[in-house]
Amino acid sequence: MLKIDSSICTSCGSCARACPGYVIEIEAGGAVDKYPENCIDCGHCVAVCPVDAIVNERMDPSGFPARVDPCISFEAFNHLARNRRSTRRFKKDPLSREHVEKLVDSAHYAPTGENAQELEYLVINDPARIAMIRDAMARQFKQLHSLVKGLYGFVVLAMGKEEARRSRASLGRIMAKWAEGKDAGEDPFLRTAPTLLIIHSKQKTFMAQTDAGIAGYHVMLAAEVLGIGSVWNGFHQTFCGLNGSMRRVSLVPKGHKVLASISLGYPDVKYRRNVFRRPVRSRIVDHGEP
Ligand SMILES: Cc1cc2nc3c(=O)[nH]c(=O)nc-3n(C[C@H](O)[C@H](O)[C@H](O)COP(=O)(O)O)c2cc1C
Ligand code: SF4
Ligand code: SF4
Repeated sequence: MLKIDSSICTSCGSCARACPGYVIEIEAGGAVDKYPENCIDCGHCVAVCPVDAIVNERMDPSGFPARVDPCISFEAFNHLARNRRSTRRFKKDPLSREHVEKLVDSAHYAPTGENAQELEYLVINDPARIAMIRDAMARQFKQLHSLVKGLYGFVVLAMGKEEARRSRASLGRIMAKWAEGKDAGEDPFLRTAPTLLIIHSKQKTFMAQTDAGIAGYHVMLAAEVLGIGSVWNGFHQTFCGLNGSMRRVSLVPKGHKVLASISLGYPDVKYRRNVFRRPVRSRIVDHGEP
């Protein structure tokens, strides 16, 4: 529900233009909260009003601090995007409390479809719990490996001859290596990270998976700025989807779906260069193109 102070509203129409739900109309006396049932509480009308004439009663006014413009240069952002690497060697120390809070805060300001804001964040920063999760992942991978290794033959049947032979050999080697990874002193499951950030949600809203992807990437970019390494943990995310015991050992609340897992920690690897990407494939349709 909006409270609009008509004594200061200048009828500029900015709020109505910014509103995604066409909630506001401009009438003779100024802006009117015409269709409040369409409001998704995005806060845009409050944030855009040049004279602070609008209050959304569901929102704390202190949650609307003045913008800092420009916040960073394009060059700085471009360096950040290029500098971020998937880190796979971490120091043992868990993240500081201050860093954990900063990472969660950066995710919290990511956009969500229909402004659902249904994502929740679980940060496992306890070495004992991390060890339990790693062991559970190793066990689950071994089970999975013994189940699927007999199926490589079907992969061969499904593919062309030469390609299939190579793919079968390489798939088998990788799977065997991962299955034995822990025994060989390696950690292919958490990549030696002392911290795991899990994005989960009870409501499976329409765009929840995409929302989690965006929020997760906010975490990774913020981590890069803070000198923290990160790697998306597709294995943990997938295992949580397959298996309730993985969710339980990871302390995911009952009935919640894991939408993203990110391994984090202080990096024990230093890159000197950014990496090559294949040439970008994009098409820009300009004015006049048939
Ligand atoms: C996955 C996703 C889908 C979205 N789809 C739409 C859309 O179809 N139309 C639209 O106007 N806004 C869309 N949005 C924008 C959200 O409504 C917006 O992010 C949210 O209200 C929060 O506002 P903010 O992005 O200004 O913080 C989408 C956002 C996300 C993350
Ligand atoms: S909070 Fe967002 S959706 Fe609601 S009236 Fe304001 S601009 Fe429109
Ligand atoms: S943005 Fe503010 S001043 Fe402009 S029409 Fe809306 S309430 Fe009135």
